[in-house]
Amino acid sequence: MTKRNVPESVSILILGAGGDLTKRLLLPGLASLLSAHDYDVQVLGAAQEERTDEQWRQLIRDSFGQVTDPQNADRYLESARYITADVTDPEQLRLLIQACDHTPIIYFALPPAVTARVCAALRQLDLPAGTRLALEKPFGTDLTSARALNRLIAQLVPEEQVFRIDHFLGMSMVLNILGLRFANQFFESVWNGRRIERIEIVYDELLGLEGRGGYYDRAGALIDMLQSHLLEVLALIAMEQPPRLNEVELRSNAAQILRATHVWGDDPAASSHRARYTAGKVGDRSLPSYTDEPGVDPALKTETLAQVTLEVDTARWRGVPFVLRSGKAIGNYTTQVRVRLRPVPEIPGFGGAPAPDSIMLDLKSGAVELGLTMNGSGDPFTLERSTLVAKKELGDLLPYGQVLQGIVEGDPLLSVRADMAEECWRIFDPVISAWRKDEVPLEEYPAGSLGPKGW
Ligand code: BG6
Repeated sequence: MTKRNVPESVSILILGAGGDLTKRLLLPGLASLLSAHDYDVQVLGAAQEERTDEQWRQLIRDSFGQVTDPQNADRYLESARYITADVTDPEQLRLLIQACDHTPIIYFALPPAVTARVCAALRQLDLPAGTRLALEKPFGTDLTSARALNRLIAQLVPEEQVFRIDHFLGMSMVLNILGLRFANQFFESVWNGRRIERIEIVYDELLGLEGRGGYYDRAGALIDMLQSHLLEVLALIAMEQPPRLNEVELRSNAAQILRATHVWGDDPAASSHRARYTAGKVGDRSLPSYTDEPGVDPALKTETLAQVTLEVDTARWRGVPFVLRSGKAIGNYTTQVRVRLRPVPEIPGFGGAPAPDSIMLDLKSGAVELGLTMNGSGDPFTLERSTLVAKKELGDLLPYGQVLQGIVEGDPLLSVRADMAEECWRIFDPVISAWRKDEVPLEEYPAGSLGPKGW
């Protein structure tokens, strides 16, 4: 992490504070941050739903209770406020901003189309100096809308005051990728296409829709996970070492990788798979078919499992497939980057061929596993597979806490820059359009299985 600024006092104004995101992720993340750091933060919520200040304060107290002693919330409660408002209305937005005691951080916990309307409304106001904007994913709904949103935002505040949120960038392991790669001769010397045959970034979840049908059915696994989170992981895995760990250098190197990334063979039909789950059991939870989940329109043909192979067209990586995959209701929870090295030639005199070396980074637990071929136990003339495992203690800050820390301190290191957000859409545009034209079959898998066979 770059040098921490001592932050000024800020008011976090959450637009769409009635939603699930605020309760499930945002407020607990904020609680983990404010319990660990002595920041002066006012927490305001605004949404169409009626709610009293007292109910809002209780929600904040409960969120602290999820991660720490609820009494840690006390010092933030007096200034906390909830305002019922139509956040797309310029006059009501003016009142919301006036309610901020300090420099506002306007947090858009809103769907992309509403975010665009709020930004258009904000153009009619004079925003206080230093106002920061924090925008939830997905950023736009396609390349054209992301570009339009970026243009609109650029008219409101300078880019350094814009924080496009990707909570994966707040996961300790994602940042650990940089330490691991660049602090070790061992990794850096093999981290290229001459030594590495294939890289897979897999994020398979046990969870199904969990009541998010209204949002998810218009996104699907490709947009919800690959287009945003997994491409950011790919950029960190593939990037050149930044000369300094600051927002300019880190994000420029990540953006360079994204610009060089395209669908394998520029053939989306041959390089992508999609599927959706049917009824089944994940552990002891029974899930209905995706198409029977509330809020789902089967005609949209939304996928709950997506897999796309990409190429990073740089001297280091040309010819190495990067496979990105993520699915819901999969029987095996997997959050891994798997690196497979090229095989070594057979060793004369030893029984058994060496398996390719492998490196596995677990994005959630922080574990690193090296798969090596060693001499057989008891018979050194044979070869067998061994795994060396290193576990890590992850920090106390929740991923949202880490991302919010950057926003409170005014450091956009861990947020997605405008051009990166557009590149992520550009990379998957051909896949989205091939899927819309039905050039790739929509397969099925029972919830709780490992997905369709043969991918
Ligand atoms: C969110 C997606 O951004 O990331 C969810 O919208 C997904 O669908 C989640 O479940 C995964 O992240 P985490 O941190 O909850 O594993």
